[in-house]
Amino acid sequence: ANPFYMRDVLKVSDFTAEDVRALLEEARWMKSLRRKGYLHSYLQGRTLALIFEKPSTRTRVSFEVAMLELGGHPLVLRSDELQLGRGETVEDTARVLSRYVDGILLRTHAHETLERLAAAADVPVINGLSDLHHPTQVFADLLTLVEHFGPLGELKIAYVGDARNNVTHSWIEAAALLGLTLVVASPEEYRPDPEIWSWAEARAQESGADLRWTSDPREAVADADVVITDTWVSMGTEAEREARLSRLRPYQVNEGLFALARKEAVFLHCLPAHRGEEVTEAVIDGPRSLVWDEAENRLHVHKALLRLVLAP
Ligand code: CP
Ligand code: NVA
Repeated sequence: ANPFYMRDVLKVSDFTAEDVRALLEEARWMKSLRRKGYLHSYLQGRTLALIFEKPSTRTRVSFEVAMLELGGHPLVLRSDELQLGRGETVEDTARVLSRYVDGILLRTHAHETLERLAAAADVPVINGLSDLHHPTQVFADLLTLVEHFGPLGELKIAYVGDARNNVTHSWIEAAALLGLTLVVASPEEYRPDPEIWSWAEARAQESGADLRWTSDPREAVADADVVITDTWVSMGTEAEREARLSRLRPYQVNEGLFALARKEAVFLHCLPAHRGEEVTEAVIDGPRSLVWDEAENRLHVHKALLRLVLAP
């Protein structure tokens, strides 16, 4: 049985560890098929509506290409071009779109908007990023690490920077689910969402995950195998830009900090990057940065996800 069929994909914790492993297997297979030049029309005649309330390069293009390569049709819709932008409710939009399309992807601010859309839609809803979660990004990050290292159980993974954001939250959930070691470093006021953190701590008891938070970036990065960061100014927080830049400055992933990690350590960043802010050129453009593979892997993961969710 395919546990993804017709399911919503709102957050990593919607799935079991086995589900995530199955998704990554499917993504590796999709990637190898494409490398050999094979494209299979698993989603012939199927349609995905993609609604964006925020800008996007990777999510938009990779999901759009994923649908096309699978023989389906993507419809990219900006929320301000829909009646949604003039006050039509999320629920009414969900009911109507469910009569036309086979799935809906939404990139939005409030995670609750996604939950409302999913509750009212008869078709699967995929989170293309909300303020709280970015699950499809972390699935691609996991694929990138599995390709590079093989099994992830023995690795120390460090996340440094703004830890109260979507990417960190999805990483925390993934680590808790899969039994990984994840050390998160951030200033006190940018600590992860407490509800997500306590869910993860409880889950870690069962999975054997080692989850820790520290305010010290050096402690997190020391002997790490993987160092991850993300922008200090997520979409929607631009008004706090100056305060964030000055508060988060000590958490910059630069050569000095990265040198504390293991010699073979790799660097991940979901992109877009801000060189000179959360990361320096020497690190992100250096030999141990996997960011381009990471970005490419969005495509393969999305193909796997769409096939599993939309095809029986
Ligand atoms: N990483 C990511 O989601 O990028 P976009 O905002 O370009 O989609
Ligand atoms: N945390 C970032 C991720 C961008 C893909 C944001 O929400 O803007």
